[in-house]
Amino acid sequence: MNYHIVTYGCQMNVHESEKIAGLLRRCGYEQESGIEDADIVVFNTCCIRENAENHAFGNIGALKKLKRQRRGMLIAVGGCMAQEAGKAELLVKKFPFIDIIFGTHNVSELPALIARKQQEKKIVSLLADRAETEDGAEAFRTSYPNAWVNITYGCNNFCTYCIVPYVRGREKSRKKECILEEVRALIAAGYKEITLLGQNVNSYRDGETDFPALLDAVASVEGKFRVRFMTSHPKDFSRELVAVMKKHEKICNLLHLPAQSGSTRILSLMNRRYTRKEYLEKVALFKEEIADGEVTTDLIVGFPTETDAEFKETLSLVKEADFSSAFTFVYSPRTGTKAAAMEGQIPEEVSKERIARLIAQVNENTRRKSEAYVGKVVEVLCEDYDSKKGLYLGREPLGRMGYFAADQNCVGEFVQMKVTRANGVSLYGERV
Ligand code: 5AD
Ligand code: SF4
Repeated sequence: MNYHIVTYGCQMNVHESEKIAGLLRRCGYEQESGIEDADIVVFNTCCIRENAENHAFGNIGALKKLKRQRRGMLIAVGGCMAQEAGKAELLVKKFPFIDIIFGTHNVSELPALIARKQQEKKIVSLLADRAETEDGAEAFRTSYPNAWVNITYGCNNFCTYCIVPYVRGREKSRKKECILEEVRALIAAGYKEITLLGQNVNSYRDGETDFPALLDAVASVEGKFRVRFMTSHPKDFSRELVAVMKKHEKICNLLHLPAQSGSTRILSLMNRRYTRKEYLEKVALFKEEIADGEVTTDLIVGFPTETDAEFKETLSLVKEADFSSAFTFVYSPRTGTKAAAMEGQIPEEVSKERIARLIAQVNENTRRKSEAYVGKVVEVLCEDYDSKKGLYLGREPLGRMGYFAADQNCVGEFVQMKVTRANGVSLYGERV
């Protein structure tokens, strides 16, 4: 039997879909296929912004016809949107052909729900948050040579715009030993890059072990591999963490540190718990210690009451912090969050104009910083072959994509590449 998984959202979801694939494979679905030939289609949804939800709604709706033609096909919807208050009811009403709805706290129940579906017409199974982490599901990994490893689940920060704490629950850290065991097994199996995942990795804690200590332990595992982590919250970003990054060559010198805004007043309304000055001090600390380090970020425009002058502070932050790239978003009100109830929501045309200006500034940084690589040699971890371009591709330590030609398959190899040309976040070059 075939399965097809449609994933929306962040790396956490990408990895969760690998776990869903692992679960499906254990209950008889052996082969990943196109949606048309699937015996089960699972939607792993996201609700961080309205457009993520609209995408999922559109794609689920588009299955109505296929489901009519292939009655035996199961359709399951899970993930953040399914867990959001009131959304399961809406999904059932809008799309009566959905067979199973499950949430973020019961992914490992999916095989049991599929079995139950043989007797029941429709299953909606959502659990409340629970104290322990869901550590059971073994992933069917599809991102070789990179491997995602969860270290924390959930979030306690309650940034006023964000729905994540409501749909992912309270923050929980996995046991250090479980994480290390997983990392050792992955390295033994040939993985070359470990990315530690959490909504706020800096608040990891297992007894005496905090995030710098965990990172130190992971990077001390033997073998040639890279370590990345995401995402760091600036309020918890510490000198100790910088020291561990400096100590280990394996840890990539790329820091993804979401600023969200360059205005201290807006940061306070967002409940981010740092000022513009404090943010810039953290960036400076990192760059002082790690000479070739680069910082990337997330930025939101059009937060309620944001003035043009405050938006300009975000623009100037891009220059001042010298971000090498950034994910930029228009603020999207999420029902149930504090910010959605604030007065002073910003009209769409104002936000659109602001985001265009912000993207132009970010692109300027990206182009300038990438062009400085021309003539240099970078180490690329080869990930794939791009058949359209006829080139192999992979990432250099600071996250840029490197493209090069090779006579034989080098996926999973570290390749030295001399950069001959830069285009945005892509570098082109020759193997040396
Ligand atoms: N509107 C726009 N962007 C948001 N993000 C989180 N919530 C919202 C929202 N309601 C962005 C933040 C976060 C990233 C993952 O998504 O920038 O860092
Ligand atoms: Fe959302 Fe803030 Fe938690 Fe990130 S830290 S997931 S933005 S609440």
